[in-house]
Amino acid sequence: MKKHIAVVSGDGIGPDIIREALKVLGAVGAKFGHTFTTSSYLAGGVALDAVGIPLPKETLEGCKNSDSVLLGAVGGPKWDTLASNLRPEKALLGLRGGLGLFCNLRPAILYKQLSDACPLKAEIIGEGLDLMVVRELTGGIYFGERGRSDDAAYDTMAYTVTEIERILRKAFEIAQKRSKRLCSVDKANILNTSQLWREVIKRVQVEYPDVEVSHLYVDNAAMQLVRNPGQFDVIVTENMFGDILSDEASQITGSIGMLPSASLREDSFGMYEPIHGSAPDIAGKDLANPIATILSVAMMLRYSFGLQAEAESIEKAVSKVLDGGYRTADIYTPGMKKVGTNDMGSLIAQAL
Ligand code: NAD
Ligand code: IPM
Ligand code: MN
Repeated sequence: MKKHIAVVSGDGIGPDIIREALKVLGAVGAKFGHTFTTSSYLAGGVALDAVGIPLPKETLEGCKNSDSVLLGAVGGPKWDTLASNLRPEKALLGLRGGLGLFCNLRPAILYKQLSDACPLKAEIIGEGLDLMVVRELTGGIYFGERGRSDDAAYDTMAYTVTEIERILRKAFEIAQKRSKRLCSVDKANILNTSQLWREVIKRVQVEYPDVEVSHLYVDNAAMQLVRNPGQFDVIVTENMFGDILSDEASQITGSIGMLPSASLREDSFGMYEPIHGSAPDIAGKDLANPIATILSVAMMLRYSFGLQAEAESIEKAVSKVLDGGYRTADIYTPGMKKVGTNDMGSLIAQAL
């Protein structure tokens, strides 16, 4: 198979982790006889520095003309005082919105080898954690009307029935392939958008009678996630709630450096990125955990290219390297072997 991938390294640890992900992608291609070609594009702070805007037209066009996108992370203190439409993070929203990627999958899996890195007590974590957060990605408060004057500011959370319906259908389809339990997280005790969300789910769930639906308010969901994470299998929620809950879930797996994501639409095109940010505190120091980005490559192979065996081989290689006791600093526990970003990537590539 031949595929062309747009690579957007971005800022901070972006280039560190993308380098390792490409190492693994190259190794998978060699092992299975696929040709993955890449083109690099600027977005975020590096684009601001180079051309004065966070998302150059060539970047969006280049991504549109590729089979999928691999993204590192954007943002950093250097650009934090810029006006909101000029911030690096706008590049991410521009890509998600511009590419129509409304469905964001964020799987949170606690590898059994990392149980010591999980901050929850063994009796709370029980059988482990294998949770899929389905996050709406192109609506809600990130994309609503906004405004700012000297002494006031506002952001608007808005959703249409169409936007709610399509993300719910994706979540139901995923739940059907897993435990058939779907938890919808909202704030329907206060927000109009959440009340509409519940009306829509009531209608849509009739089409998926085999899926058991539950509802939680987001504040309770945040609490339940650390009280009894095993109760969850698939969570579906709006854009900002999904952002927050996925970071919370990630720590249960040992580190935010473990969680990949896929941003999808109705066809096979997707953008793949770790859920974490540019981690300016550790950028360029060979400290970042590249596993979230490497697992994002596995998601790309599975969701965009239909390469199931290839995806699994990456996931198994990660597990094998963890079996070997190798840990980056964020998932390190006493008795393990501490390695840097570069060695972790090489070990996973070799373990394929
Ligand atoms: P962050 O996720 O970058 O970092 C949070 C903490 O987790 C830091 O202590 C960091 O060192 C650590 N961390 C993150 N990824 C890690 C990894 N792979 N290995 C080891 N440790 C890791 O979040 P933040 O500090 O709130 O944000 C920093 C910048 O990143 C901001 O500009 C923010 O807007 C941006 N951001 C970008 C994205 C993205 O591009 N998708 C996502 C989140 C935040
Ligand atoms: C993420 C990030 C982004 C988000 C920011 C940087 C816009 O936190 O991908 O999780 O909130 O979606
Ligand atoms: Mn986030």
